[in-house]
Amino acid sequence: MLQKMDNIFSDFQAKIETLKKQADVLSLKSEVIGKKGTLAEILKSLKDATPEQRKTIGPKSNQIKQDIEKMVFDKIQQIELAEVNEKLEKSKIDFSLTDSVLAKGLQASGLHPVSQIQREIEDIFISMGFDVLDGPHIENEYHNFEALNIPDTHPARDMQDTFWFKDMKHLLRTHTSTIQVRGMESRKPPFKFVGPGKVFRCERTDATHEMCFHQLEGMMVGKDINVGNLIYFMKTLLKQIFKKDMEVRLRPGYFPFVEPGFELDIRWKKPGKGESEHSGWLELLPCGMVHPNVLKAGGIDPEEYNGFAFGLGLDRLVMVKYMIEDIRHLHSGDLRFNKQFKAY
Ligand code: PHE
Repeated sequence: MLQKMDNIFSDFQAKIETLKKQADVLSLKSEVIGKKGTLAEILKSLKDATPEQRKTIGPKSNQIKQDIEKMVFDKIQQIELAEVNEKLEKSKIDFSLTDSVLAKGLQASGLHPVSQIQREIEDIFISMGFDVLDGPHIENEYHNFEALNIPDTHPARDMQDTFWFKDMKHLLRTHTSTIQVRGMESRKPPFKFVGPGKVFRCERTDATHEMCFHQLEGMMVGKDINVGNLIYFMKTLLKQIFKKDMEVRLRPGYFPFVEPGFELDIRWKKPGKGESEHSGWLELLPCGMVHPNVLKAGGIDPEEYNGFAFGLGLDRLVMVKYMIEDIRHLHSGDLRFNKQFKAY
């Protein structure tokens, strides 16, 4: 019986080699290891075998089945690849980007500097165990304001700052803090995440203001989180971005959703310029300890848990890093500007 099984296997090996179509491979497979296949046929006489023989026949037949499955899988992959190659050959598309193509005006492109910095910062936070969350651009009043402890009367709700939809219930999110609320709703503490994305403000544009810009929100909630933890994570982030230890300072700052709230400044010196004129503190990172009302709105008990949050302006960070004097360059779509940033 063992001999017969070996014969079946070597016969299969020889046949599969010659096949060129998937359907033929599959029918050969069922001829051999299918329910009514040759292997099953042999196993029918298992009842006549001695217990000793059975011990070797069972595992052997399983092994043959496994080997055949694997060979079928490999063969089908090989056939598919050959088919794709044949199609490509026939369609005569040249996928190589040659110098002559480039010379005709086609350019290899890279990511926009804001996308580059966004990815860089996401990677830094991922390496520290943070999740990366997303949220919708069109938000409701609750997620943009109410759940963030921004009452009806708060000036941030002003018509001038916010792009409202006609129903006056929906709006284009004015900050990524909306992601804090959505993150809390879908998680149980302890957790930490960042949420990058576009935000919109109904503002007159000038060198430092745009109607649409990018923020990266961060939030960490757990037991006994303190300002020291916040500073640690911010300094780690800044060190990775600027490739050196950065001196920071905290000033009080008011945001309805944090208490206490801070503005985190970095000591900044424009490279190549005289120390006194061009160095100083640069406001970079609004942050603070999450307000108890915000935790409550997110379904978290502020008696048990607390946390910190921050909102980093990505466009501003790019401007500082590359010394860009006007934010409007970033969204101009001007290739002369974009091309200065190497591909990511
Ligand atoms: N959402 C604030 C803004 O857009 C930034 C911020 C986020 C401040 C988190 C504190 C904590 O200005």
